[in-house]
Amino acid sequence: MISPLKTERLPAGAAGLSRAAAILQAGGLVSFGTETVYGLGADATNARAVARIFEAKGRPHFNPLICHYSDADMAKRDVQMSEMAQRLAERFWPGALSLVLPRLITSKIATLAGAGLETLAIRVPAHAGARALIEALSRPIAAPSANRSGRISPTSAAHVLADLDGRIEAIIDHGPCPVGIESTVLDLTGDRPFLLRPGGVTIEELEAVIGPVARGIDPARAEAARRLRSPGLLVSHYAPALPVRLNATSIGADEALLAFGPPLPGADIVFNLSPASDLPEAAARLFDGLHELDRRAALQGRRQIAVMPIPTSGLGLAITDRLTRAAAPRPMAPHQLD
Ligand code: TXA
Ligand code: MG
Repeated sequence: MISPLKTERLPAGAAGLSRAAAILQAGGLVSFGTETVYGLGADATNARAVARIFEAKGRPHFNPLICHYSDADMAKRDVQMSEMAQRLAERFWPGALSLVLPRLITSKIATLAGAGLETLAIRVPAHAGARALIEALSRPIAAPSANRSGRISPTSAAHVLADLDGRIEAIIDHGPCPVGIESTVLDLTGDRPFLLRPGGVTIEELEAVIGPVARGIDPARAEAARRLRSPGLLVSHYAPALPVRLNATSIGADEALLAFGPPLPGADIVFNLSPASDLPEAAARLFDGLHELDRRAALQGRRQIAVMPIPTSGLGLAITDRLTRAAAPRPMAPHQLD
């Protein structure tokens, strides 16, 4: 158990920034907004601080963290950037793309941040406040999503506090996250690029720059996932308290509805991801919708969340990926999930 802390609420301006940087400098944990979801940050070069991330989240130590940089040049100190990585960085950074690359032996990143792997996941966030924090610290920030392990990712300061108040030193309130879904994780360490997690940058956008991207079940990677090398691939994840039923074309009396487009008739507890069926809007509202429906449905004695069909093109791939994990059977103990 970790001892309860007083979690400081910091404003997004200059005063909040310098206080947050001082806390990180001293080995503390600070949650901050990014364009995707809120991160739970620590100085990536400080092993004790990184260890505290795992403790605060209740996250298994074999699940590696993404390291955040203020620009690509800073990232080059820690990883080997291939020509393909370079092209992707030029096109998508700053932005919602994390690249898994070979770690340089000279890298000062704490081994635990990469869970002892010979690779590192790196990203330059588009959020100006996040980049300003990295610049103020002058070191990379290791940051998973700022939720307790296995729970829904946070897209507002309120979501973070609901999970982590008293477990971290501070949070900068950066308002709602505009993309609302995590970064795309692309592995560039094999002979061909492999999509580990669909996210804010779509596979169509990636393929327009680097050609075909492999995804789905790859025997070697399935084995790696089995050994929990990239536990974000675990099937059950992003789990709300209530069970989730996908592709609902009708609604049961004991269900709340996560709608996309015109809601199903008969639903009375409804969160509409996008009345106009707009995928970027739905992505931005997804985790908020799961948080809110979970709370409202439980208050009114509903037993399940029904989800309307959502297309799998563009950002729909990341949305349906998160919903499929939210709906998966949950054989694992919560501490086994990130
Ligand atoms: O948008 C995001 O990516 C957010 C914000 C805060 O940047 N972060 C985030 O982190 O979602 P997290 O820890 O919740 O998810 C990171 C994912 C996990 O699935 C992890 O297993 C995978 O990236 N990952 C990290 N390093 C890896 C590596 N070296 N090899 C393979 N997978 C890796
Ligand atoms: Mg996460």
